[in-house]
Amino acid sequence: MKKATILTAAFLTAAFLAPTRARAVDPPAAPPAAPPAAPSAAPPAAPPAAAAPTTPPSLEDGLKLWNEKKNKCAQCHGADGKGETKMGKSKNVSSMATVEFQKKYTDQQMIDAIMKGFEREEGGKKVKMEPLKNATERDAQALVLVVRSFAPKDAPK
Ligand code: HEC
Repeated sequence: MKKATILTAAFLTAAFLAPTRARAVDPPAAPPAAPPAAPSAAPPAAPPAAAAPTTPPSLEDGLKLWNEKKNKCAQCHGADGKGETKMGKSKNVSSMATVEFQKKYTDQQMIDAIMKGFEREEGGKKVKMEPLKNATERDAQALVLVVRSFAPKDAPK
């Protein structure tokens, strides 16, 4: 019995080793399975748009822009938004420090005004504002925070 076991073991070992050689002559078996859906062919997911600032625009950013001489916001609207400057008066600027003004425009309308400028008639008077040069959406959002900061503090929302 023992001999048989050894023989069996030897046979199995041989059978195990044989295929390497056997395969070379055997006709190919079933065609190889379809290759796996080539994952390497698909381009990797695009990385997120580069370098968009992740912090939200801040009032501080806005105040810098507001008071920057070349942007002239403060020249027309005043450092306090009340428009009581020489230029503000000559341009028919109204005070931003009123509930009426704060309710008149949505943030988006303000962003559009800052980025695109406007020219229109209001109460029989011509009002005009140049767009802020090279303004990004983020700059405009920061400036809206400035305009909102002029809202009367004790006013109902
Ligand atoms: C030449 C003067 C002038 C300058 C400079 C100016 N504005 Fe104005 N702005 C006006 C006038 C005039 C109006 C319209 C009348 C009003 O409501 O006061 C106005 C209106 C606005 C409004 C309300 C939106 C609207 O459609 O009326 C916002 C917001 C505003 N300005 C922001 C700014 C910011 C921010 C800057 C600087 C980047 C700026 N303005 C520079 C004259 C000016």
